[in-house]
Amino acid sequence: MTTKTVSLKIDGHDISVQEGTSILEAAIENGIDIPHLCFLEGLTKTGACRLCLVELKGQAKLFASCSTPVSDGMEVITDSVKLKEYRKKTIQLLLSERTHVCSVCVANKNCELQALADKLGVDHVAYEREWTGEKVDSSHPFLVIDRNRCILCTRCVRVCDEVEGVHALDLKLRGKDSQIIVDFDDSWANSTSCTSCRKCAKVCPVGAIYVEGEPLSQTKDRNIANFVLSRRKK
Ligand code: FES
Repeated sequence: MTTKTVSLKIDGHDISVQEGTSILEAAIENGIDIPHLCFLEGLTKTGACRLCLVELKGQAKLFASCSTPVSDGMEVITDSVKLKEYRKKTIQLLLSERTHVCSVCVANKNCELQALADKLGVDHVAYEREWTGEKVDSSHPFLVIDRNRCILCTRCVRVCDEVEGVHALDLKLRGKDSQIIVDFDDSWANSTSCTSCRKCAKVCPVGAIYVEGEPLSQTKDRNIANFVLSRRKK
């Protein structure tokens, strides 16, 4: 089967990619940076974090680049005053929900949220903070989930389901009240499906799931999903 090539412009650069590629993937393939958090190569796209919004010429609304496929003749703008403002607000909203205190976080200096806040020039949070006191589960022999730091990107849920194939993790409730749960909302120690593979900790962009006593610089692996899936396809 031949794959069709689609031609588009991103920030004025002429680009050709395979049909079905998302705008974000096309940008990454061509060395153009679009901020993103929930997207991880190799996993399904959820469009949950809204950080990867871009403008499309001729369209009034903004589009999540991770879940919008490219089309012929499309003209994408990834960097504008409007987008910068949206991204800064999105980061501030993420920081205002739950408890993000970098100085006492295991992910300090290894955190994608912190790095993006820094890169985008977020120097304060303009929204009232909602520190809700979520449950921490350290009952597993070495994996810990601190839901206070969770940004609900669901990378852990997707890698557990789509790469490890066990679906030990899931979400309960809706919106900002959502919680990552283990099995049927049991403690991690009682999980009958978790294989202790650590993939959830490897892909967590913040310090919500980590391996106790292990430096995050050692645990984190953004390529885990892609690597495992590419090996499966062979
Ligand atoms: Fe696109 Fe999160 S990366 S919405």
